[in-house]
Amino acid sequence: RNILIGLGAGGLYGAADKPDGSTIDCCPPITKTIIDFKLPDRGPLRVRRAAQDLEKDPVYLAKYKKAIALMRALPDDDPRSMAQQAMVHCSYCDGGYPQAGFSDLEIQVHFCWLFYPFHRWYLYFYEKIMGELIGDPTFALPFWNWDAPVGMYIPKIFTDPTSSLYDQYRNAAHQPPKLLDLNYGGTDDDVDDATRIKENLTTMYQQMVSKASSHRLFYGEPYSAGDDPSPGAGNIESIPHNNIHLWTGDPNQTNGEDMGAFYSAGRDPLFYSHHSNVDRMWSIYKDLLGGTDIDKTDWLDTEFLFYDEKKNLVRVKVRDSLDTRKLGYVYDNKVPIPWLEAKP
Ligand code: C2O
Repeated sequence: RNILIGLGAGGLYGAADKPDGSTIDCCPPITKTIIDFKLPDRGPLRVRRAAQDLEKDPVYLAKYKKAIALMRALPDDDPRSMAQQAMVHCSYCDGGYPQAGFSDLEIQVHFCWLFYPFHRWYLYFYEKIMGELIGDPTFALPFWNWDAPVGMYIPKIFTDPTSSLYDQYRNAAHQPPKLLDLNYGGTDDDVDDATRIKENLTTMYQQMVSKASSHRLFYGEPYSAGDDPSPGAGNIESIPHNNIHLWTGDPNQTNGEDMGAFYSAGRDPLFYSHHSNVDRMWSIYKDLLGGTDIDKTDWLDTEFLFYDEKKNLVRVKVRDSLDTRKLGYVYDNKVPIPWLEAKP
């Protein structure tokens, strides 16, 4: 009973709902041919590094800015364009696709066990597209290291208004050096930085370790074909992932755009680095904390569709996302993980 994407007559659906009740057309370009994804041949691994470490690496930073500038410059109907990449999130999160065989049930990749694998695939293609555009297949997406004190700010590389990595729709009160609140609920409270850092680290330890004693708690609730969407989110999705979206988006926009709403979050380059760290948490869970994969075929055989770096529409399965090395990337393992010692 794994979930499959319902395809419209033309190939894909894509009209979605914004939080304010209006609708938005998220439909990706139409294609008749769908290719089944094959794991790439083993080449050099792409190493995803912490965004704050890139400040000291002008060569890498120049590549990153160029990749995003080129992505922004692509015509809106190119599936690799920044506009279309943002639409991917909109389609899968705001009711853009029905479940195959259940036309009245939408596909929602949040608030359920699809959260980690969907976003891993999404970033995988985004990263490959960047590498393609700059002609460097080793190019890796940085991560926003919000789980460590050195990264509990909007990374500086995203805040230069003249850079392609900038987005104007962010909370003006949360620019660096404003410290991130991993439990942010919509209002800034008065807590000194040392206390906030301690709270944040405790939150990380709880979400990753002490409260992550089952697959349901870590990954989210099972979601199979025919089920209503949003059965329940896993730990990290609820806190701090959602809070960071809310904290980053501009409260003066109707729906907290960009980061504060599903349909617009992917317009901010910071979104992908936020999710790179979410994805890193999945790797840490498995590599360092003894976490395992869910063994249910309903999860393993769930399919998504993405356009790849060559503009092919590709069908992927959750089961091919479980090992980042097979997808050709790893996380910089020299980055400290201080919350491992933050047992309350
Ligand atoms: Cu698809 Cu951070 O949400």
